[in-house]
Amino acid sequence: MKAKVGVLISGRGSNMAALLYAAKHPSCPYEIVLVAANDPEAAGLTLAQAEGVPTFAQSHKGLKRAEFDRIIDAQLRRAGAEYVVLAGYMRLLSAEFVAGWENRMLNIHPSLLPKYKGLDTHQKALDAGDSHAGCSVHVVTSELDDGPVLAQTEVAILPGDSADTLAARILIAEHQLYSRTLADFVTRDR
Ligand code: GAR
Repeated sequence: MKAKVGVLISGRGSNMAALLYAAKHPSCPYEIVLVAANDPEAAGLTLAQAEGVPTFAQSHKGLKRAEFDRIIDAQLRRAGAEYVVLAGYMRLLSAEFVAGWENRMLNIHPSLLPKYKGLDTHQKALDAGDSHAGCSVHVVTSELDDGPVLAQTEVAILPGDSADTLAARILIAEHQLYSRTLADFVTRDR
């Protein structure tokens, strides 16, 4: 039996797409049972629907954080998710939600953690004059962009890189790192 994964997105959803396409390979140890978004306009929802993956969208506007998270949590459990994967999910999570998925929730972050938590990671790496930037997959704990790092990919910064050109290259690395790390994680877990 493949591990059942719910993916949370807020927008474009390119990491979700990479996870989804990787899951099409017969040897992939996970399957995506739900893609949920906190923005009904999230572009990734259209892609997931076209691929036949169940989706759920609920705007967080006007809802208390814990209240909103309970709605998402209920959808994940209803879909039979055993793991939660954050893929560009730009929401802080309630402590209850994090506790409910302890050691079963992963996030991808576009920096070499513990460097540059939060936003504007690419510009921060450029401003610091770093030779390399990159991406990290980590287990989600109650601290933002914290929790044990499972895997990282270093990406060389090129002369003339802007935050946008660097982000685009790191995204290529993200797409490869995430599905492989998730596959290893669910395999190790079983
Ligand atoms: C990705 O670069 C991801 O690493 C980043 O948002 C982007 C989402 O793109 N996540 C964070 O910054 C989380 N702190 P996508 O929607 O195309 O996957």
